[in-house]
Amino acid sequence: MNLISILDVKDISLLFERAKQFKKEKRIGVCHEYLHGKTLAMIFEKASTRTRVSFEVAMNQLGGHSIYLEWKTMQLGRGESLKDTAKTLSRYVDGLMIRAYRHSDVVEIAKHSDIPVINGLTDLEHPCQALSDLFTIQELRSFDAKLAYVGDGNNVCNSLLLGSALVGMDISVACPKGYEPPESIISIAKEIADTTGSKVSLTHDPFEAVADCDIIYTDVWVSMGQEEERKRRLKVFRPFQVNSELVKHGNDPLIMHCLPAKRGEEITDEVIDGPNSIVFTQAENRLHLQKALLFRLLK
Ligand code: CP
Ligand code: NVA
Repeated sequence: MNLISILDVKDISLLFERAKQFKKEKRIGVCHEYLHGKTLAMIFEKASTRTRVSFEVAMNQLGGHSIYLEWKTMQLGRGESLKDTAKTLSRYVDGLMIRAYRHSDVVEIAKHSDIPVINGLTDLEHPCQALSDLFTIQELRSFDAKLAYVGDGNNVCNSLLLGSALVGMDISVACPKGYEPPESIISIAKEIADTTGSKVSLTHDPFEAVADCDIIYTDVWVSMGQEEERKRRLKVFRPFQVNSELVKHGNDPLIMHCLPAKRGEEITDEVIDGPNSIVFTQAENRLHLQKALLFRLLK
């Protein structure tokens, strides 16, 4: 099994059960050797703090090992094909995590790999993030909550849309015109939501999205690779800032952010450091959820 899209996950509730167990065991000092002798290679084309560290620690805590590889210092950076890279790595390691710009590159790697491939973020999706965020929501609230995502219709938003629909949680997305999630993502999310009895809605009004919501989620306005658009984006996204005025319109909402945050841009200090913020629980849960994922894929 690969995890390229959050839609690849079968039986999310079992994965969450396992993550909950790992979290509990970590607290009481239980150690595991489930992945003894196993190696995860991690290729990064973009920067990372949480994804890199949580995967590396997850492998260590399961008795395995990981290798950090930078795309630009691999032969990939000098033009070796994704196909040959995938075939070679498949002879050495037991799993491959990759963070890349183009989603199609991760699909291509997976096509030529004989080992499980995990998407550690592409321009289209961030499935590991959304899975651990849903786990966090289940832990601290429930899927009866209404989630409002305010900001850019980006990779994180896409995976949250699909994931919320899968678990049957209502999601309302507010983005500026021209920065909506791709039509293909919205229509798949709506199709799934129809089967799970949840609602997917899209608006250009942040106040409409957060009206009576239980959780507000935001992400940066300038994702990795969009630095040249920064000036324009800061202007367009300004009305979508998650600040105390916006938060007042929710139902005493929890505040979520995948991090890294640009404080003072998409979210104010007051909100991200406020009593309803759960951003560091989200960050912590990346570890527990990914342990569950690695257990499922590599054991
Ligand atoms: N949220 C997340 O993926 O963080 P990093 O970019 O630090 O890995
Ligand atoms: N949307 C952000 C998420 C970072 C974890 C980016 O792609 O840069």
